[in-house]
Amino acid sequence: MSDVPSIDLNDGNRIPQLGFGVFQIDPADTAETVERALAVGYRHIDTAEMYGNEAGVGEGVRASGLGRDEVFITSKLNNGHHEPDDARRAMDGTLTELGTDHVDLFLIHWPLPTRYDGDFVSTWRVMEEFKADGRARSIGVSNFQVDHLERLAAETETVPAVNQIEVHPYLLNQEVSDYCHGAGIAVEAWSPIAQGRVLDDETIGEIAEKVGRTPAQVVLRWHVQRGNVVFPKSETPERIEENFAIFDFALDDAEMARISELDRGEDGRTGPHPDTFAMIPG
Ligand SMILES: NC(=O)c1ccc[n+]([C@@H]2O[C@H](COP(=O)([O-])OP(=O)(O)OC[C@H]3O[C@@H](n4cnc5c(N)ncnc54)[C@H](OP(=O)(O)O)[C@@H]3O)[C@@H](O)[C@H]2O)c1
Repeated sequence: MSDVPSIDLNDGNRIPQLGFGVFQIDPADTAETVERALAVGYRHIDTAEMYGNEAGVGEGVRASGLGRDEVFITSKLNNGHHEPDDARRAMDGTLTELGTDHVDLFLIHWPLPTRYDGDFVSTWRVMEEFKADGRARSIGVSNFQVDHLERLAAETETVPAVNQIEVHPYLLNQEVSDYCHGAGIAVEAWSPIAQGRVLDDETIGEIAEKVGRTPAQVVLRWHVQRGNVVFPKSETPERIEENFAIFDFALDDAEMARISELDRGEDGRTGPHPDTFAMIPG
């Protein structure tokens, strides 16, 4: 029923290129919102322990009537759990909250290079355990910079399947993206529409008018054509449908280039910088 293409991961698994993000969805509303997204056709949900709504995601998936293997679920290791035993407990907690025996993808949420003596390598080795015991079908990282990825490559056996990083027209994050593509790491673009900030952009508006689509559809389509995995968040039923309808049109090379030229580099970043972010949720 869905036209969503899948991307091959470096471990032989596949991930639907379009998913549904649940950051900032109230835990009490999450099950209903996830069920709605699944009814529209989404088959990939991106959550995290940090979002506090893993239980709602599991409930929404069960309520959808879909089989567990029909929905790709990602969750993430929270910042307070990088010590190996804490990470093992956190994985147990995530699976309990979701009500499942495995996640399709588990990520280290932030590298936290200024915490844990800068040691995200020991944490990655525990992620390798989760992959080996089948509780995570694939493992990856989030917000890792090039030097963090180079360190994992030098000191561990497993190349992350994905790196989930901030990417949108105002922050191409090109250096990290290029490294990932060269190393066989799929790029997942978080805040793909910059939480709405790029939708009033004049250039995007012009292209949207020309192709007869909304600005959000144009930006999401731009991501897909660049090869990014995306999971826009919305609690608005019309937008959940709108964001899913991006596989029946295409942008030409000139339109793609015009959007990419909107890159503002570091000035375009909306979230924390991975080199300095050190927040541990209370
Ligand atoms: N790994 C990380 O560190 C990290 C960080 C941030 C996000 N993420 C992941 O990435 C996902 C997406 O990022 P995000 O939630 O930050 O931002 P986003 O998807 O770029 O934008 C979401 C915002 O845009 C609005 N919106 C959605 N579709 C729209 C449309 N078609 N037209 C107009 N407005 C629209 C939503 O409003 P309504 O809900 O009111 O419709 C919401 O305010 C998250 O949910 C999470 O799964 C990961």
